Amino acid sequence: MCGIVGYIGRNEAWSVILEGLKRLEYRGYDSAGLAVLNNGTIDVRKAVGKLKVLESSVKDNPPAGCIGVGHTRWATHGRPSDENAHPHTDCSGRITVVHNGIIENYLQLKSRLEARGHKFTSETDTEVAAHLIEEYYDGDLASAVRRAAKELEGSFALVVMAQDEPGCLVGARRHSPLVVGLGEEESFLASDVAAFLKHTRRVVFVDDDLVVSVGKNNVRLFDLQGNEFVASATTVDWDAAMAERGGYDHFMLKEIHEQPRALRDTMRGRLSSELDRIDLPGLNLSDDEIRNINRIVMIACGTAYHASIAGKYAIEELCRIPVEVDVASELRYRDPVIDDRTLAIVISQSGETIDTIVGLREAKRKGAKAVAITNVVGSLAARESDGVLYTYAGPEIAVASTKAYTTQLMLLYLIALYIAQVRGTIDESRAATLRAALWELPSQAEIILNDYSEVVKAAERYYCFNGFLYMARGINLASALEGALKMKEIAYIHAEGYAAGEMKHGPIAMIDPTFVTIAIAVQSKTYDKILNNIKEVKARSGEVIAVANTHDETIVNYADRVFRVPQTEELLSPVLVAIPLQLMAYHVACNRSPNIDQPRNLAKTVTVE
Ligand code: F6R
Repeated sequence: MCGIVGYIGRNEAWSVILEGLKRLEYRGYDSAGLAVLNNGTIDVRKAVGKLKVLESSVKDNPPAGCIGVGHTRWATHGRPSDENAHPHTDCSGRITVVHNGIIENYLQLKSRLEARGHKFTSETDTEVAAHLIEEYYDGDLASAVRRAAKELEGSFALVVMAQDEPGCLVGARRHSPLVVGLGEEESFLASDVAAFLKHTRRVVFVDDDLVVSVGKNNVRLFDLQGNEFVASATTVDWDAAMAERGGYDHFMLKEIHEQPRALRDTMRGRLSSELDRIDLPGLNLSDDEIRNINRIVMIACGTAYHASIAGKYAIEELCRIPVEVDVASELRYRDPVIDDRTLAIVISQSGETIDTIVGLREAKRKGAKAVAITNVVGSLAARESDGVLYTYAGPEIAVASTKAYTTQLMLLYLIALYIAQVRGTIDESRAATLRAALWELPSQAEIILNDYSEVVKAAERYYCFNGFLYMARGINLASALEGALKMKEIAYIHAEGYAAGEMKHGPIAMIDPTFVTIAIAVQSKTYDKILNNIKEVKARSGEVIAVANTHDETIVNYADRVFRVPQTEELLSPVLVAIPLQLMAYHVACNRSPNIDQPRNLAKTVTVE
């Protein structure tokens, strides 16, 4: 994982780099470092721990200079320590490297380089890149990086600075993100545009196996053979304020509150305001191609996988196409049944999750058409798919995904309705009902967010309980799994999501007075069955919180507490149910952990296996 930043321009590099690293801290936060070049000398600073440790030591005695590189680390090779923190240097200290990814052949390269006299000072895979570049360096950094990149196996985004070339930074990438930012007499290289959004929105996305050389006023792209490419810049429509906390205690809370806006933006232009039509040009599929699909495979990890579970229910019900959902880390190794009549739907907030990307490649290799649902313009998933539908959630900074999830659901509903229309598997009155209900979701989400005092009270009561079980039936199985994941990842409490019909097959044995069950009991065809499940838990002295509709009077006779959500179509209800579950995990976590935006052991984007 890890976040990297490079800067060349008119300002003090240390300050721009630290500010950029703060935006990337979601990618890793066990150590950090930066290096600044000035008057022929490179000054390297490192610190174990969160970025603020580095920041306070650098601020006491900042390194002068207008060109530098920085890194925030999530350890893969070598424990968090000053020696293993980046930047890494070659033997002479003249070449400095920051890296995101894993160099898989680093042991072979290391022994070859050691045999040639190179001295290593860290346990990392990254350091081989610095020494390999040193081997090839003859006064042309871009050429040395290019020759080194050819020999590296695995994944990397590198930013390299050479003492003898103060006018440029050189980057290279394979399977790890790298973006160039073009400002006024200043340029940036970073893992994510969030690092430099405050300075510029003009970006160049660097493709795999390209080397990029940036100066204050120029950018040059080369392939690994040294052929030069024209770098085409695009303007991203995120602004810096979107990546700030905006008065909220945590990014996660801010992002939960952004959901009405994010849902509206994701619907805009796709569901017509007359509510009579859905247009999805991003799908990039002709009507004939849609009619030819005989199977859909969804590829995703974590929260995005939970969105795919809801997507399966929606697509199978509306389109009558069999849908298979699988976590990408399983799909990539199990030889799935995919052919040229399969549509692969790849769901990834970052668009860079390595298992998801490999799953996408595997699906395409077997002949499938692939459509990406992603939040990041120009991400790998977007570029490698045949079609792309962006969730317009804006930057998601908190590690725990919230607004990306509900906007992924929104796109899956739009896809299901669109395909159903084309294939004629839905009658117009049902389609019209669903379109109208979709349109209402952002306002209904606002109603939940206007008053969730019940959730805050419940969090205060239950934050020291031993475990949470989330149970649901039908499409809200996705909500149960997602609610449990949120609780685990930020509150560090054991939580499980279960199909309620499975309770008697095992989980009910867990129920005791210290165990909380959250039952998703919104109006549905299985509502009465969920009431029975709640009775069974109560009969064993378990505490029950129900998520139920606003006007449901019955539920108070069953559950100890009720989180209310407005009523919508059962198929669409996971969007609304997600919100109190996100808030519950957030408020339980507030009572237990200071690290809500950056939970222990996690990173936002999993770019290594
Ligand atoms: C959980 C969470 C993760 C991600 C997963 C996939 O809150 O954020 O489970 O959903 O790592 O990430 P993307 O969507 O970027 O592929």
